[in-house]
Order: sequence, then C-alpha cells, then structure tokens
Amino acid sequence: MQDVKDAYCLISEDLVAMESMTTAFLSEVDPFVDEVVRYGLQFGGKRLRPALLFLTAHCVGAVTENHIRAAAAIELIHTATLIHDDILDGAFIRRHLATINFKWNPHVAVLAGDILLTKAMELLTGSDDIQGFKRITLACRLTCEGELLQIGTIGNFAISQDNYMSVISRKTAPFLACSTELGAYYANAAPETIDLFTRFGEQLGAAFQIIDDVLDLTGKTDTTGKTLRTDIINRKPTLPLILYLQKAPQNDIDEIKSRLNGNNRNINETDAEWIANHICQSGVVNDIQQLAEKIINSAIESIATYPSENPRAIKDLTAIAKFITSRKN
Ligand code: IPE
Ligand code: IPE
Ligand code: MG
Ligand code: MG
Repeated sequence: MQDVKDAYCLISEDLVAMESMTTAFLSEVDPFVDEVVRYGLQFGGKRLRPALLFLTAHCVGAVTENHIRAAAAIELIHTATLIHDDILDGAFIRRHLATINFKWNPHVAVLAGDILLTKAMELLTGSDDIQGFKRITLACRLTCEGELLQIGTIGNFAISQDNYMSVISRKTAPFLACSTELGAYYANAAPETIDLFTRFGEQLGAAFQIIDDVLDLTGKTDTTGKTLRTDIINRKPTLPLILYLQKAPQNDIDEIKSRLNGNNRNINETDAEWIANHICQSGVVNDIQQLAEKIINSAIESIATYPSENPRAIKDLTAIAKFITSRKN
C-alpha cells in the first residue's frame, strides 16, 4: 500500500468529501442498527474503486457532486458485497476486524449488507442524472451473478481458464469498470473516451481478481486483513488450482484430488495449507503473475496516449494499475 500512497494525493479532498457524504447519509435512529451499520463501515478498505473513479474524472475533466455520490454508493455496495461474501465463504476476518457473520451471526450480516446496499440506492436517486444508478445497479447484478456462477463451479476442478475468466469478469470486473466509466461519464467525456476508460477498468478488475486468488494461497492474514485459504477450504476452482491440476505430476494430482474430494465436504485447514504450499512451489503462481501483468500492461498502454490535460492523473492511474499486481493486501 505504501508504494501506491502517492497516487491517492491528488484525490485526497475527493475522498474526504465522499466519506463525509457517506457518514452524513447513514445516520441511524436505532442504537443496534446504528452499531451494526457503523461497524460495517469502519472496515477501512483500500478505497480502490473510488480512487479509480476520481482519478478518471481528473484525467478527463473535473470532479463534480455526481462523482462524489457515485463513489460513495460504489464503496457502500462494495462493502455490502464483502459482508455477504464473508457469509458465503465462512470468513472470520475482514479488513483486520471480525466479520459481521462471526461477531454477530449470518442473519445480522445479511441485513447489514442489505441496509448498505439500499442506502447506496437511495443516495443515487438524489442525483439529477440517473446514469450512475443504471450502471451501478447493473454492476451489482453482475457481481451477484458472478458469485452464483462461482457457486455452480464448486468442486469442479476441470473447468477451463476461459470459464474461470468469465466468472471473474462478472464477479469482480463490473465494479471497477463502472468506477472508471462513471468517472469519465460525469466529467462529460465523449462516448469513445467513456469506452476507453470502461475497458481500462474491466482489465484492472480481471487482473485484480486473478491476483486476489493467488493471494488466497500465498498471502498472510496479518497483511491482507482477511481470512485466507477460503477458496481451497470451500473447494473453489480458482486459476492456481485449475492450472496446477493441468500440469502437475500424476501422483500430486491424485494426492490433491483426494484431499479436495474427501467426503465431498469442506476441507480442513491442514489439508488447505498442504494444497496451498504444493501449488505455490509448482511455478504456476509465477505463470499467473505474468498473465495478470500482461493484462495490466495492456490496460496501461491503452490510456498512455490519452491526451489528458492532467498528466498527473494518468500517472496516478498507472501507479494504481501497477499496484494491482504488486500488492500484498
Ligand atoms: C476484495 O476487494 C474483494 C475482491 C473483489 C477480491 P478489495 O481488496 O478492494 O477490498 P477492500 O475494499 O480493500 O477491503
Ligand atoms: C469475492 O471474491 C469478490 C466479490 C466480488 C465480492 P473473494 O471471495 O475472492 O473475495 P475475498 O478474497 O473474500 O476478499
Ligand atoms: Mg471471499
Ligand atoms: Mg479472495
């Protein structure tokens, strides 16, 4: 995160405006609802999607009230998806704190996520231009479809790389793409410029999830702030596992498959660590890192020649794009 800190300087006031809009809008009357909602929001994430939205706005023109509203809504919904995702994955830690499903229970977490989601929708209806509402609700549906598609692949370790890419292009890319899209749109960009930045966000989103799936195997909870190895524990066919099973010696494949398929149950942490270590030692992680870097380099190239009046914003977007593949959190 340290490497990328400078890329957040230009937009520091925009981020403060977004946080103020969010807290002002979320005041709750009931103390229990208030406690849960505030707990959900004190989750301090990287604010990656708002950063992409604001920096795109600076590349193309100026930041407006509509940008701040859209960024606040996107971060609220992103937080809601994480609260719900932690129920699906049975995770205990998120953003260095106990998850809501663990601190309270999954019922509380379903409702807390729903409150954040619907608050975001209310916030968006206050805009004079409903494009944000349209794009964000679409991203929201695609994210849910992506999570659902992924549930459909659980335990199926023979899925293709293309199948995996199509899951992550729904599950993760839409929120990054709608951030850059709305950054450009609300700065009155021409349609081809909006398309350029939307595609840039999509590529960042795909690379982001590829690296996230590597970090699930290689990362540490102290650094990422979240429960790891849940992809293996929940028997999700992520890219490291898919590629490993295509290339590993037969003995290793048999051993991993037996640990993954035992009783068709969720697997225990010891088996998950064993599988993670084996995959990490295999060279597959290096291949996947290179794939993610290729996607990021193509995204960076695509905006490098954009004739921005604010070259600093292009430089910062480039730094954020590079951070996506070098990140440890
Ligand atoms: C985590 O997203 C969920 C994925 C899409 C993999 P982030 O890593 O952006 O989460 P925060 O907002 O920084 O916590
Ligand atoms: C979920 O993916 C990403 C969402 C779109 C919510 P993961 O399950 O890999 O995200 P983390 O690792 O829990 O953050
Ligand atoms: Mg998860
Ligand atoms: Mg993950």
